[in-house]
Amino acid sequence: MGILIVVASLSGNTRELGRQIAERCRAAGHAVHWQEADDLRQPAPLAADEADLVLLGSWTDNAGRTPAEMKAWVAGIAGLGQRPRQVAVFGTGETQWGQEYYCGAVHRLIRYFHSGYPPLEIEQMPHGERHAAAIDAWTDAVLAHYRSTTDADHRRHHA
Ligand SMILES: Cc1cc2nc3c(=O)[nH]c(=O)nc-3n(C[C@H](O)[C@H](O)[C@H](O)COP(=O)(O)O)c2cc1C
Repeated sequence: MGILIVVASLSGNTRELGRQIAERCRAAGHAVHWQEADDLRQPAPLAADEADLVLLGSWTDNAGRTPAEMKAWVAGIAGLGQRPRQVAVFGTGETQWGQEYYCGAVHRLIRYFHSGYPPLEIEQMPHGERHAAAIDAWTDAVLAHYRSTTDADHRRHHA
């Protein structure tokens, strides 16, 4: 399937997380298209409503907020009348900003898009085997959830 990964990353943590997710998706045979949320000069590699699955990755700004560049991307697709079919969200944050604000942007984006997919939250730069295993497990779970959701749709249409 066609997967669009959109990343908002200031210092590279979320970009690296997205890179590992992209690698796992490609290894499973999917076509992955990459977009930086703040790069609005480039045309989208795949329209958000043409992707089978959109994976949104974001860092978290002050007090659990979604950073401006990710908000701008979300507003941009809304302005184009594009509604993503399926959205899963991942991100990085830091617990030192307060547990209630940790990876707040991930939770806000999940609520905004009514995403039924689990969140993936990594503290700062992904590193080590535990993170690698968590990233692979999350990506596999998202791909499996996608299959079960769309299989159910398929059955409904043929019922
Ligand atoms: C001004 C500022 C505010 C932040 N506020 C939060 C926050 O409320 N919650 C959180 O989890 N992380 C917060 N962070 C931490 C970043 O989200 C975290 O370092 C993240 O991994 C950065 O990702 P990036 O390298 O992709 O830019 C804040 C960072 C900055 C610079």
